[in-house]
Amino acid sequence: STDPLVVFTPSGKRGRFPVGTPVLTAARQLGVDLDSVCGGRGICSKCQITPGYGEFSKHGVTVHEGALSDWNAVEQRYDDKRGLTKGRRLGCQATVQMDVVIDVPPESQVHKQVVRKRAEARDITLNPSTRLFYVEVEEPDMHKPTGDLERLCTALSEQWQIENVHADLHILQTMQPILRKGGWKVTCAVNLGDNENPPMIMQIWPGFHEGTVYGLAVDLGSTTIAAHLCDLGTGEVVASSGVMNPQIRFGEDLMSRVSYSMMNKGGAAEMTAAVREGMNTLFSNIATDAGVDKALIVDAVFVCNPVMHHLLLGIDPFELGQAPFALATSDSIRLDARELDLDLHPSARVYLLPCIAGHVGADAAAVALSEAPDKSEDLVLVVDVGTNAEILLGNREKVLACSSPTGPAFEGAQISAGQRAAPGAIEKVEIDPVTKEPRFRVIGCDLWSDDPAFAEATAATGITGICGSGIIEAIAEMRIAGVLDASGLIGSSAQAGTDRCIPEGRTNSYLLHDASATGGPRITVTNPDIRAIQMAKAALYSGARLLMDKFGVDNVDRVVLAGAFGAHISPKHAMVLGMIPDAPLDKVTSAGNAAGTGARIALINSAARAEIEETVRRIHKVETAVEPRFQEHFVNASAIPNSVEPFPILNS
Ligand code: FES
Repeated sequence: STDPLVVFTPSGKRGRFPVGTPVLTAARQLGVDLDSVCGGRGICSKCQITPGYGEFSKHGVTVHEGALSDWNAVEQRYDDKRGLTKGRRLGCQATVQMDVVIDVPPESQVHKQVVRKRAEARDITLNPSTRLFYVEVEEPDMHKPTGDLERLCTALSEQWQIENVHADLHILQTMQPILRKGGWKVTCAVNLGDNENPPMIMQIWPGFHEGTVYGLAVDLGSTTIAAHLCDLGTGEVVASSGVMNPQIRFGEDLMSRVSYSMMNKGGAAEMTAAVREGMNTLFSNIATDAGVDKALIVDAVFVCNPVMHHLLLGIDPFELGQAPFALATSDSIRLDARELDLDLHPSARVYLLPCIAGHVGADAAAVALSEAPDKSEDLVLVVDVGTNAEILLGNREKVLACSSPTGPAFEGAQISAGQRAAPGAIEKVEIDPVTKEPRFRVIGCDLWSDDPAFAEATAATGITGICGSGIIEAIAEMRIAGVLDASGLIGSSAQAGTDRCIPEGRTNSYLLHDASATGGPRITVTNPDIRAIQMAKAALYSGARLLMDKFGVDNVDRVVLAGAFGAHISPKHAMVLGMIPDAPLDKVTSAGNAAGTGARIALINSAARAEIEETVRRIHKVETAVEPRFQEHFVNASAIPNSVEPFPILNS
């Protein structure tokens, strides 16, 4: 007689097991992803499965009642106390009796998929650095003199196959009463280690512990620091928050901070202290918001540009201020949070993604991890728009990367009425091609400015200025309406057929909004505004175009706009302006804060760290500064949309 056949779904893994084998045991032997924190003792309920009955022609099995053993006392007790969903069984208790098909629901999978909302984005596999393990520890015995820690480590090795476990002093200081309180049954949070570090006991609780541990995904930008607090048990974001980077007082942009460190003795150290302090404030706030004890934050992943990366680590960014822009290291970095003065769990770990090159940082690596151009069948251009644009172009064959100095114009700086994106800022603009009359929307209000209720709806915020996406739309609409020529000059009112073109010095400005009669603002788009945007967009376009040259293509299949700002840009207007190459509009999508998402992926899926390290090694860096063609593209791209590149798809 042959042993019963066990088929697991959705994996399809199958094997024969002797009658009486627990389902959890069968799953483990087949490498089926079935969770367990208590090690099969019927306490954690993580191992829930659903047996199927009837005919499974796909698997060649008919499953009869009684294929699994009857409900046992442990399951009964669990059901009485906590309630077990109908049809579910505890995989560690139910044993195999006959051929059976067993479904592992998503919540019972260790490496469950954390779903991302965008259609084109891959789900994230949950595989955190630190997980909880329940163990039963041998009691001390005068005749066998071993320490409590050694017996705890033996238990982790025998019951969970975790070898070579270490523990910091704070564990030794607290462990003994916990072991005794739990009656030698404890739950340990164990960081499973990596190729540089052995596994480490992070925390111990008496008995079976229901709780979880947390991690931080941090996007350290030159302007803002944003963090997601994630539950490492589920992968979900439990709170998100941001603060201004306190280094701003040393300089608005990266280069001014590099020069601050050059000009001031101890300047780099001052900036290091400032950013670490800002981060501790942010982490305290986010933990308080989420009602989470900061000491339960055991892991943190950082993504940042090279200058931020060096300043966070306490490395003088001097070399990044001059050619050949040598990084202290381009490798990923693993260290203890306390080495960075971060006030988290006492043994919390920190991981910094690798940098791609002196100008293309760990933030770009994080974008690559999030958008995975290296796994794309079609040729994808990923543009992370900020003060520096990080640009990636590639597919499964190869990926190229560069960065391009777009400057702060897209963030509203250098624009006469410019401001950061905040309530009251004009963010959308339309100009009637016949009357040349504008209408617009401001952040914080759903109405267009020609709606009778608009004035009242915006009374609280007022109309305070124009943000980056607003100025892009305004200029693109001016071009479409014929108010602006391809070289970027605003025509006179007579030429344009409107009284909104107002002479200012030797050029004209376009009047977008005028409430000066009632003491309100007067918002115009001036010729210098257009020049600033032309410079920024030309830098962006020429970076992308240079990568296309290197790739040997004239077109890309799709474009992904990333970054907080990228999320707000209208693809049509970006293309009319010639910020991005010509592509079908429905192939231009927004990825939101892809760098932050990349940090979150590396946080909740520790295997992704090795993956991005490998990917970064294969990314070809292109240095825009030394490429003669960059200048050529830049000059051509100053025109709107471009003086030489045709935009046939846009025009069709
Ligand atoms: Fe914990 Fe089954 S493994 S209840």
